[in-house]
Amino acid sequence: MDNKLNKKLFGDDFAWGVSTAAFQTEGACTKDGKGRSIWDEFTSKKGKVLNGETAETACDFYHRYREDIDLIKQMNIPNFRFSIAWTRILPNGEGEVNQLGIDHYNNVINYCLEQGIEPWVTIYHWDLPQALEAKGGWTNREIVGWFTNYATICAQYFGDRVKHWMVMNEPGVFTGAGYFLGLHAPGRTGLRNYLPTIHHTVLSIVSAAKQLRYVLPDATIGTTFSCSHIEPYSQKTRDINAANRVDALLNRLFIEPLLGLGYPMNEVTALKGINKYILPGDEANMTFDFDFIGIQNYTREIVKFSLFTPYVYARLVKAVKRNVPTTLMGWEVHPPALYQVLKQFAAYRPDKPIYITENGVAFEDTLSDEGILDTERVEFLQTHISEVLKAKNEGVNVKGYFVWTLTDNFEWAEGYHPRFGLIHVDFKTQRRTIKASGRWYGKFLKGDS
Ligand code: BGC
Repeated sequence: MDNKLNKKLFGDDFAWGVSTAAFQTEGACTKDGKGRSIWDEFTSKKGKVLNGETAETACDFYHRYREDIDLIKQMNIPNFRFSIAWTRILPNGEGEVNQLGIDHYNNVINYCLEQGIEPWVTIYHWDLPQALEAKGGWTNREIVGWFTNYATICAQYFGDRVKHWMVMNEPGVFTGAGYFLGLHAPGRTGLRNYLPTIHHTVLSIVSAAKQLRYVLPDATIGTTFSCSHIEPYSQKTRDINAANRVDALLNRLFIEPLLGLGYPMNEVTALKGINKYILPGDEANMTFDFDFIGIQNYTREIVKFSLFTPYVYARLVKAVKRNVPTTLMGWEVHPPALYQVLKQFAAYRPDKPIYITENGVAFEDTLSDEGILDTERVEFLQTHISEVLKAKNEGVNVKGYFVWTLTDNFEWAEGYHPRFGLIHVDFKTQRRTIKASGRWYGKFLKGDS
């Protein structure tokens, strides 16, 4: 273990936490008036999720939230980030509020506060109401109003107790995987779905953030981005340019318009098609002065020029082919990537606080008599947290770090095989066991390591 790593080095105001998402953990997909989401729909279709797994029960967090929040407390984690399922609040995405859904999140929030745990709420972690998808979902510009209305309801019902908000989780992933590649819900493909979705997502983030600010002037409002450090495969110009294009798509596509820099269309010319969806007056509604930026990092990508990949003319060189350590997701383990993305995102607005709202890893965990000795995950966390410290010591305004994730859960199209949790879940019995990594994080947060 890295003896130099001590919580004190980060200062007393550094926020340590753990992150989850509604669809990946709650289960109870039809309980208490919950409506159907695009992920309920997607997981019910053949061939979309590995082994045909669904999230009907997942970790049963809906019923077991007290037990899980108790475990958060046991691990000395002071901040808990979770998301609200739109379809519990508004089963059809709009219209009547479902009081039982409100009650559920009130219970979760209140229980956190009773246990001395600060709730950090993500308004949208990918589970769009299916009723809205039937009307075009994110490709329909009306979504700006639907989403803003939903976000306003969240602020009105929960804002007296929730002080930290994240408008969206990783727009880059749900737009790219869900509306371009078809790998995630709702399984749409092609530029004609992707381009309007990008623009409507930006407008929705801003509109919802403005409403949150209006309803809750004292709240801290942020949003989160997926970020991977990008490097060219070689120093050849064509690989360098390919890496720049991938960087534009994976890292810059959402943060830049929100900061008033516009879409990175010069790098990826196919993005110029977004212009068609930008209406007069939109420019003023594409930027918001967030209180913080949430960045989520898991790896780095090595990029090579490719003539055969339309629009981006680049491909990722798979980690498994590069003879580097990998995770169960096939991602390279590369702690400096977190430092690099911190530097990259801090450069936009050095004054702006950054929170790492997700960082974590899936490895093959084996349950033994001594529990789960996931030493690789312990090392992953230690080495990544060390990179955060390095960036902080160099002046990056990084204010918090949240581990992804609390319990093993439903990993989207990958199902249950990749286990990211600090806590092992036996999905047959729902038995929870804190892994060595959870014990280590707990000790670290107590100040014992
Ligand atoms: C998402 C999580 C996901 C994690 C690991 C992030 O992209 O926000 O929902 O489980 O990465 O893949």
